Amino acid sequence: MYDIHCHIFPGVDDGSGSINDSVEMARIAASTGVKAIVATPHCNIPQLFENYWNEDFENMLRKLNETFALKGIPLTVYKGQEVFNYGDVISHLKNGRLITLNCSRYVLVEFDFDTMEAEALETAERIRAEGYVPIVAHPERYGFAFENPMSIMKIRSSGGLIQINAGSIRGSFGPNCEKLSSAILKSCAADFIASDAHSQYSRTPDMSESHEIVCNNFSYDYAKLLFETNPLRVINNEEVR
Ligand SMILES: [Fe+2]
Repeated sequence: MYDIHCHIFPGVDDGSGSINDSVEMARIAASTGVKAIVATPHCNIPQLFENYWNEDFENMLRKLNETFALKGIPLTVYKGQEVFNYGDVISHLKNGRLITLNCSRYVLVEFDFDTMEAEALETAERIRAEGYVPIVAHPERYGFAFENPMSIMKIRSSGGLIQINAGSIRGSFGPNCEKLSSAILKSCAADFIASDAHSQYSRTPDMSESHEIVCNNFSYDYAKLLFETNPLRVINNEEVR
C-alpha cells in the first residue's frame, strides 16, 4: 500500500509530536503493509498551521528517511502538504510556499468543515484550470457532501479526485461518515484511500482493517486500485484516470 495523506512530520501540526512518535508511526505503517508515505502536514491555515514550505521541511524529510533506514524500517517518506483552502492557493503553489504531492501535478486540498458546495467546486475548478489536479481530502467528513452527495460527482466531473479516509470506512468518524464513505465507494467515485494518520495511538497509519473491509464488501481489485495503484501513480506523477 501507499499512503498519500499522513501527518508524520514531527512537531509541525496536530500530528506526530516528536521524531520518536514518527518512528513509531513508521513502524506501524511498515508492519501493516505500507511501503511509502507522502508526508502531508496541515498548512496555509492562518494563525494555526501556516507551515509554508521551506528548507527546514526538506531537512526534516531527509532526517526521517535517514532515521527509518538506520532503524531498519522499510518505509520511504516523500514530501507533500495538506493544503487548506484559504487565500490565494494558486499563487502560493506557483511560488513554492505550497507544494504538491511529491512534486507531482496532484495537490491535496482540505476544506473547512462548513464550506459550501459552490466554494469547494469553484476552488477545485480553479486549481484544475492552472494545470494541477486537486485531490479533495476526506469529503465524507464535509457538511456539503452530507447534504448533497452528488457534489462528489460534480468535483470529479470537473477533474478533481476524491480521497477517502481509512478511518471513515471502519466507522472511526461515526456512522454518518461510514455510510457516506460506503456510498462513495459503491458509486465508484473514490480514487484513493489514505490513513490521514495523526499519531501511533489513535488515527494511526494502520490501514489493514479498512483494506480488508473494501476487499470483503467490494473486491480485491478495487482495494488494490485505491490503496496501491492510484496512490503510486500520484507519487510517480502519472495519470490517475
Ligand atoms: Fe489530514
